[in-house]
Amino acid sequence: MKYKNILVDFESDLAIITINRPEKLNALNNEVFNELENVFDQLKKDKTNVVIITGAGDKAFVAGADIKELNKCDEKTGKDFSLKGQNVFNKIENLGKPVIAAINGFALGGGCELALACHIRIANSRAKFGQPEVNLGIIPGYGGTQRLARLINTGRAAEYILTGDLFDAEDALRIGFVNKITAPEDLIDEAKSLAKKISAKGQIAVRAALGAILQTNDSNLNDGLNYEAELFASCCKTNDFVEGTTAFLEKRSPKFKNR
Ligand code: COA
Repeated sequence: MKYKNILVDFESDLAIITINRPEKLNALNNEVFNELENVFDQLKKDKTNVVIITGAGDKAFVAGADIKELNKCDEKTGKDFSLKGQNVFNKIENLGKPVIAAINGFALGGGCELALACHIRIANSRAKFGQPEVNLGIIPGYGGTQRLARLINTGRAAEYILTGDLFDAEDALRIGFVNKITAPEDLIDEAKSLAKKISAKGQIAVRAALGAILQTNDSNLNDGLNYEAELFASCCKTNDFVEGTTAFLEKRSPKFKNR
């Protein structure tokens, strides 16, 4: 399918999704959400191992929900607006495969929330982050109040969300929002290199590990540990497990077949 607002590129087992409205700083309108939903439904089924999301141009990852569309919301349509974005971002988080946000500029409002729905975040040194919705008389509606608080702690999330203040890449690294900062020209190569490293592992183990990590959102420690043990056991019945452990004992590199 050809998309109007996103670019979809495949390189071997990687997919690179670029939000492509640079003239509007890649703001998320309804069409972008429909296209993202469609592409993530496809990515769930195809042979992609790792997904990278970035923004077109050198200024923005995503500067938020499209304020022109937002401006028309009333109480009823506002709820739909919020639920639609949450639903698409849930699909990204629950893809079952790792998704890396390559944050190449402004990640504000819905852009910050998109990054939060990804599993790993790296940014270039010019990136700027924030949840400035309070300046528009609203609150984050695409998961920001929940995922930001879980990622960086409730006190810091409260400060950023209640003031609408932006934070820069150095702050993002310091508070654990991003894993790494790169020079602007190195961001995509760095994201690809990370994606390739993950893609070279056995994907049954990668997906089981991701599932177990995400379970921390929904369960207490005991339930999470039980789930981990179940997934651990399911890995132990795979050819990849036999290959990985045998390769170690034979002092060679494993050749995973994802079986
Ligand atoms: N929704 C719709 N359009 C947006 C947008 C958004 N979230 N963010 C930027 N744009 C548009 C601008 O309206 C402008 O369009 P125009 O050229 O047709 O007037 C274009 O993108 C460029 O943005 P501009 O504001 O001129 O760039 P800037 O460099 O002066 O400022 C920002 C950059 C990111 C600081 C500023 O665009 C901004 O504050 N955006 C909104 C951020 C926000 O509140 N996001 C949360 C939304 S819930």
